[in-house]
Amino acid sequence: MTKTSSPGRAGDLAFTGAVPEMYQRCMVPLIFEPYAADLARRAAASKPRRVLEVAAGTGVVTRRLAAALGPESTIVATDLNPAMLEQAAALGTDAPVEWRTADALALPFEDGSFDLVTCVQSFHYMDDPGHAVREIARVLRPGGSALVSSVVGFEYDRRNFEARYTEHELRALFGDWDDVRVREDGGRVVSWTVLTGSLVHGLEQRVTASTAGRILRPAFLASYALVNATGLALRGFERDDTSALPMNLTLTARKPDLA
Ligand SMILES: C[S@@+](CC[C@H](N)C(=O)[O-])C[C@H]1O[C@@H](n2cnc3c(N)ncnc32)[C@H](O)[C@@H]1O
Repeated sequence: MTKTSSPGRAGDLAFTGAVPEMYQRCMVPLIFEPYAADLARRAAASKPRRVLEVAAGTGVVTRRLAAALGPESTIVATDLNPAMLEQAAALGTDAPVEWRTADALALPFEDGSFDLVTCVQSFHYMDDPGHAVREIARVLRPGGSALVSSVVGFEYDRRNFEARYTEHELRALFGDWDDVRVREDGGRVVSWTVLTGSLVHGLEQRVTASTAGRILRPAFLASYALVNATGLALRGFERDDTSALPMNLTLTARKPDLA
């Protein structure tokens, strides 16, 4: 796992102030909605009765889960930041959901309370991922399932406070679980676009640092437009609905049954 230290909790830093509203208004429809629909379909397939969502954010997965599972299941959706859950609660759900502020590292639930625990696009914010997995295991019943997704390791940046995982690292955290499967989701094209854009940006910063170099600024603006236009054109060739999101890993696993 790659991660750099930073003052404060990673999850606290990123999702407060104006972010919750902007996240729901811009990022959810543009990037997360199709992915959430696909994940909720997969998570609901086993018809879990008691579901816990960890780090539910503004509820994009929760809304889909509530629609897919119906009133016979109970859903508790938690997040560290109450402002994210406020956005979620204001939008409403097809079936009742209990919204609750909670740290994934100290879940306020009894042992064995849930059939399914999900943690979507958030596992990379966990300061202590081993402890986060132990908390998920604790609140799951024996034989219950976990679904965890995280940004893949290619996008390494030393200034980034999020963790980045390879498949091997993610699997290792669930080493003593059953039926561990890791699927690669997200788009290669959008990942290429992000990475190429950051390379061009690095070059621009060097070149335009001098007064003479500043005349090249319009050329760099044109390069960003070209990278994005190429990405948009190539996205049509991607294979599934999750391609608006950069490459990421989705792990599913089952807590071992009691012997
Ligand atoms: C990128 S958002 C993802 C939200 C949602 N699952 C989705 O798919 O849109 C990450 C969320 O993780 C939450 N978070 C970060 N660290 C957390 C922690 N230790 N416990 C609970 N939530 C946390 C943040 O507040 C934020 O809402």
